[in-house]
Amino acid sequence: MTTIERALDSDRLAIENLLTAAGLPLDGLEAALPAALVARSDGVVVGCAGVEAHGSVGLLRSVCVAPDLRDAGLGRLLVTAAEELAASRSMTELYLLTETAEAWFPRMGYRVSSRSSVPTELTSSAEFTGACPEGAVVLHKGLQPVSNAGRQGARPE
Ligand SMILES: CC(C)(COP(=O)(O)OP(=O)(O)OC[C@H]1O[C@@H](n2cnc3c(N)ncnc32)[C@H](O)[C@@H]1OP(=O)(O)O)[C@@H](O)C(=O)NCCC(=O)NCCS
Repeated sequence: MTTIERALDSDRLAIENLLTAAGLPLDGLEAALPAALVARSDGVVVGCAGVEAHGSVGLLRSVCVAPDLRDAGLGRLLVTAAEELAASRSMTELYLLTETAEAWFPRMGYRVSSRSSVPTELTSSAEFTGACPEGAVVLHKGLQPVSNAGRQGARPE
């Protein structure tokens, strides 16, 4: 069975290996690890996603699923869990940069945005300043605040 869980410190190498194999950057990963999630199957990390917090704005990054487990919904589960974690930490919107999944994130409500619309607190992050090239597409999604019942949902754009 595969579960979505908060990443442990001991998952770091497995996360780095997944990202490296998928050609995703490791730069600035440290900042996303406190709010990182993993998909775990029989104790093995088979997917990951992280959120870098910059005040009320988050950078969703490092969304990755092991090649042999793709197209089974794990990516969507990781993104949903990352959004819930971000909302629980008072983030109200998420941005992401991608060169490879521009057509995938809109399935989960993300919309293409311009770099100039990205808040300055976020443009100082490592992924913006170096790891992701100028050609990477920026996507954005607003999050609903966590309600009293503790649930979070996507805010339509
Ligand atoms: C992008 C990624 C995380 C998706 O994970 P996943 O578990 O396969 O996604 P899901 O199972 O939730 O969704 C699968 C669906 O999305 C589509 N899809 C998967 N990756 C896609 C991509 N890069 N672009 C467009 N569509 C994509 C699949 O064809 C499938 O479509 P279907 O439902 O019509 O059959 C995974 O392909 C991956 O790890 N890619 C390499 C790393 C990467 O590019 N990460 C994103 C940048 S941060």
